[in-house]
Amino acid sequence: MKRVYIETYGCQMNVADSELMFGLLGGAGYARADDPAEADVMLVNTCAVRDNAEQRVIGRMGELQRHKRPGDVLGVVGCMAQRLGPALLERVPRVDLVVGPDAYRNLADLIGLAGAGRRVSDTSFRDWEHYEDVPPVREPGPTAFVTVQRGCDYRCTFCIVPYTRGAERSRRLADVVREVAELAASGTSEVTLLGQTVNSYHDGTHDFADLLRAVGAVGGIRRVRFTSPYPTEFTLRVVEAMEATAAVCEHVHLPVQSGSDAVLRRMLRRYTRRAYLEVVARLRAAIPGVTLSTDIIVGFPGETEAQFEETLSLIAEADFDDAYTFKYSAREGTPAVRLHDHVPDGVAAERLDRLIEVVRANARRKNAGRVGQVHEVLVERPARRGGLMLGRTRTNHLVLLDLPPSAAGEYHRCRLTGTTGSTFTGAVVTPTLAVL
Ligand code: SAH
Ligand code: F3S
Repeated sequence: MKRVYIETYGCQMNVADSELMFGLLGGAGYARADDPAEADVMLVNTCAVRDNAEQRVIGRMGELQRHKRPGDVLGVVGCMAQRLGPALLERVPRVDLVVGPDAYRNLADLIGLAGAGRRVSDTSFRDWEHYEDVPPVREPGPTAFVTVQRGCDYRCTFCIVPYTRGAERSRRLADVVREVAELAASGTSEVTLLGQTVNSYHDGTHDFADLLRAVGAVGGIRRVRFTSPYPTEFTLRVVEAMEATAAVCEHVHLPVQSGSDAVLRRMLRRYTRRAYLEVVARLRAAIPGVTLSTDIIVGFPGETEAQFEETLSLIAEADFDDAYTFKYSAREGTPAVRLHDHVPDGVAAERLDRLIEVVRANARRKNAGRVGQVHEVLVERPARRGGLMLGRTRTNHLVLLDLPPSAAGEYHRCRLTGTTGSTFTGAVVTPTLAVL
């Protein structure tokens, strides 16, 4: 039996796509390898959102080549494969296979050709593709990602995703519910619904509000998360569905990108700072205790010091609990590369440092205030250090607990006993698991 190793970079959707590829290739007779040295097929599932993500992959390909024996296949899949296409075969010498996110159905055939010595690629878009008949092979566990929407129809000027993942399309609600019910039957109690603008989900009949209610009603599902929503798609219907669906967790990741209207306009984001803050207020009013995280880009073309300071002040004003912060990376083929007034790298780097400091300080202050609170924690997996288990609150805070590995999947009421500023230590306050 041939063995396949997949290494995954980038977002949660790539994690979900790798699970799909294990499903596809399992159906074609491949076993899974956890070590590239033992694999006949090595695939790197890539991200193209920033240049440093791509550089890391190029470096990693050089290392993986060392494990390549005659007849083995080394492939690049995912967004970088889609972005560079067959050119990647020229650029990385020992790569045999380049396959984009809409072409995974052909993966086994293409691997067969590559194994026979051909160098092959498939980067065609198939805007109907949902891999609906392919059961993903997941790591068993209490939490799972479920892709509900692929592609993106927005055109944020900095972003390569619409060009690597193609047109937006939503799976049918009934298909999503069936998959979630199967997950619940196998012991999963938390699902994260994935889409590039997940709250614009629409299957022709049902919108995201319907989806939240339907997934939240699946027996055995205690927690529903979703990522990433687009700020303007939080319609009243969606907010009401969040409010009405007990399983929907009190955490929203809500990418803002910038606190300056001028920058937001150049990014073609479809809201102003004020409109964004109104969405924040709506969410806070509807969902008591909701925590908010965000994505921010600094050094977008034309960003002035004053505009950057508007981003800094937004951290406190929106009162973010966490933020993923990025230095703008020019992506060939996106509209923003044609904008003028590039921000020098040193300036962008200095802004990033200042932003991270403000984000951390805000998180530290908020998290210090949470010590002593009691939260429901889902125990997920062993932590890296100290024989402890890692769990998560509904508000998306990580908690280290002194519990045995057999506690994975259990829900406990836990008091937060301390914080490093970002994660918490906790202690179980009721010894039983059935608390709702
Ligand atoms: N809608 C998607 C966005 C995918 S990209 C989602 O939220 O899942 C994830 C984040 O990467 C974006 O929110 C943005 O903050 C960042 N990003 C995207 N393109 C970028 C670029 N060219 N340079 C720097 N950061 C970028
Ligand atoms: Fe990218 Fe904007 Fe879509 S960030 S994924 S183009 S919503």
